[in-house]
Amino acid sequence: MAKIIVEGGHRLEGSVRVSGAKNAVLPILAASLLAAHGTSRIEDVPHLLDVENMMATVAALGARVERDGQAVSVCAENIHSVEPPHELVRRMRASFVVAGPLLARFGEAVIALPGGCNIGPRPVDLHIKGFEAMGATATIEGGRVHFRAPKEGLRGARIYLDIPSVGATQNIMMAACLARGQTIIENAAKEPENVDLANYLNAMGARVRGAGTDTIRIDGVDELHGAVHAVIPDRIEAGTFLIAGALAGTGVYVENAVSQHLMSLIAKLEEAGARMEDDVNGIRVWPSDGGRLKAVDVKTHYYPAYPTDLQAQIVAALATAQGTSLVTETVFENRFMHVAELQRMGADIHIEGRTAIIEGIDRLEGARVTATDLRAGAALVIAGLMAEGETEIHGLHHIDRGYDDLVGKFRALGARIRRVDGENEN
Ligand code: UD1
Repeated sequence: MAKIIVEGGHRLEGSVRVSGAKNAVLPILAASLLAAHGTSRIEDVPHLLDVENMMATVAALGARVERDGQAVSVCAENIHSVEPPHELVRRMRASFVVAGPLLARFGEAVIALPGGCNIGPRPVDLHIKGFEAMGATATIEGGRVHFRAPKEGLRGARIYLDIPSVGATQNIMMAACLARGQTIIENAAKEPENVDLANYLNAMGARVRGAGTDTIRIDGVDELHGAVHAVIPDRIEAGTFLIAGALAGTGVYVENAVSQHLMSLIAKLEEAGARMEDDVNGIRVWPSDGGRLKAVDVKTHYYPAYPTDLQAQIVAALATAQGTSLVTETVFENRFMHVAELQRMGADIHIEGRTAIIEGIDRLEGARVTATDLRAGAALVIAGLMAEGETEIHGLHHIDRGYDDLVGKFRALGARIRRVDGENEN
């Protein structure tokens, strides 16, 4: 069985380059389905299981999808199905965003109710309500949703989201591009990945304004075409390396990290004693002068607040901070499964409701642990870097879903880390 082995106690140095953002690429690949003409070329596409899954989903509908190094081209002129294979959709919650483009362009979409990371109930009611406000009907039968647009197509609507859901904002924004008239999304998600999606849609000929604010206005157009687009850097990957650098580095440079996308993390790491310096190409981070981070309190929330996707990693880092930290998860229920794994390494953490109470200890100890979700896997690598002895991490398929060459990148920074895939080591 594949595993990662980390030998703790070696400092990180040098620089690491962040890949394109997984959470921008996924909806952008789905948005490519909106183009009636031409081929899209998407650049800086990371090599990830989730991305391969989305490429396969779009291809299964009839699109021509080709990868050439870091670029992926998609031609959606000959789509022949509005029902992506259920096993692909069930594997990944983000696949649900093919619903908006299919419904808008073909008037129909049949999508299995989604799966994805095992982090609590993740309903799609806001996506459904949004499409219904645009005139569509949704029938749920046998674990799938069948959306149908009225004969004359979707119509623009004013939609207020009860929660600024990232995926619902994307789905509605994409559907609205081909609807008649104007759609206004209030309380929209402001994540940089949604701004990137809007930029791509506009390059395809759409009229989307206000992405990145609470209110997005979309004026429907008759048709979209393929476009060239370079994806923004992955702020979660960047944040993972910044946390590792603050904990175990000697001035690690995270190339491609965009400080504007990482304000909440930068503020927290500085509060914990780390030093950061940014320039146009990236961010450099140094641990605190005393060596150990200081305890800080962190609360996850929607962008621009501290991201839930960097919660596990900061919990791992704070496990050896000086003092008591409180980390509160407000976005997802049941997203503390990594805590049990960190406890195996000796961490003194207990959970009360939605808060992890972390008593910083001097040193973690290497242990055999399992990645329970995508970000938990990265957290265990971070924990292993500073632990005494060897940490053996299982459950790698989670890490492969969202980190492009995590092991190689940490190794280039001087970490003693290796991956063992059955007989093969790399
Ligand atoms: C996206 C990200 C994921 C990140 C999350 C929150 C992608 C591919 N994934 O997921 O990495 O952790 O944002 O930043 O971009 N909700 C509802 N009803 C809905 C939709 C969502 O109640 O119809 C709730 C969810 O259960 C959750 C919260 O809203 O508690 C946020 O979910 P959402 O923003 O939709 O996350 P995703 O788009 O699934």
